[in-house]
Amino acid sequence: MKKPIYILGIESSCDDTSASVICDTKVLSNVIANQEVHSKYGGVVPELASRAHQQNIVPVVQQAIEKANITKEELSAIAFTRGPGLMGSLLVGTSFAKSLALGLKIPLIEVNHMQAHILSHFIDENLNKTPPFPFLCLTISGGHTQIVKVTDHFEMEVLGETIDDAVGEAFDKSAKILGLPYPGGPLIDKYAKLGNPKAFRFTKPKVGDLDFSFSGLKTGILYFIQKQQRKNSRFIEENLHDICASIQFTIVEILMDKLKNAVKHTNIKHIAIAGGVSANSEIRKKLQFAEKHFGWTTYVPKFEYTTDNAAMIAVTGYLKYLKKDYSDITVTAQARLKVTQ
Ligand code: KG4
Ligand code: ZN
Repeated sequence: MKKPIYILGIESSCDDTSASVICDTKVLSNVIANQEVHSKYGGVVPELASRAHQQNIVPVVQQAIEKANITKEELSAIAFTRGPGLMGSLLVGTSFAKSLALGLKIPLIEVNHMQAHILSHFIDENLNKTPPFPFLCLTISGGHTQIVKVTDHFEMEVLGETIDDAVGEAFDKSAKILGLPYPGGPLIDKYAKLGNPKAFRFTKPKVGDLDFSFSGLKTGILYFIQKQQRKNSRFIEENLHDICASIQFTIVEILMDKLKNAVKHTNIKHIAIAGGVSANSEIRKKLQFAEKHFGWTTYVPKFEYTTDNAAMIAVTGYLKYLKKDYSDITVTAQARLKVTQ
């Protein structure tokens, strides 16, 4: 019988400290410590994030191993996020992973965070079936907005990406304008459910076929709110649900327009979404519509694998482990890393 492969994944690229143990592609544990400290600042404060990772990393890893009901001596390898992300945050996970791999004398595997968001589709308990190659993945998070053509686990090509803000930032900055705490994306989603998406109109950006731009939309929303508030100081309170629904509707329309262009260009109709914003209920609804009416087959991750998590790092580590694609102990964290690197 084949010996099971146990991979410990460690994620610390931004403001979530996470550790996960998987057995082959089955998740045994996926522990995530969120950092509440940032909400009052309206965004992630890098210095506070790295300090919180320092405090969280040991208990989070310990819990992940305990929950998986294995001992650390049974681990086959340790996978960690090398980048992209905040340098101070990445350093905590990288240093910890290196030391543990050295101590346990097992392989160390570096993982590209953006590849991991895409490869979260290979966790075997995902809602949908696994996407066949080639497929397109719309990676939408707080730091990235990309359409990626995936021809193999580690063969990816960026077809289009944002030229300024990421879509998650568009959600979070709009929420900030409305006085909502960080991260505002999930709150906009929540309030949008109670509002009219056609109540207000925001102009969609004009950029290249497959590229995105969100900074103009954010400014448009700011000016619109300021103008309305001059007429009625209670405008936001009185219209919060309609404003959220209209913002979300516009953002999701922008994403869907670009996906349609990408399908037209590539003729690939297997469409996956990944990253924090793939938790959004409106994009999920629009993809269901596309399944029915455009003949697409869509792949949507389970909620816990949309925002940053270590299970996606572990599964990517597993796929690299099978190829014996290990890292040298001298590997360093990289704040900037393309999805193709
Ligand atoms: O992937 P992620 O956890 O971190 C990055 O790698 O950036 O993504 C976080 C982003 C945040 O901008 C957050 O507001 C957004 O995902 N997000 C959402 C929703 N849930 C999380 N945006 C819209 N609707 C949601 N339901
Ligand atoms: Zn992420």
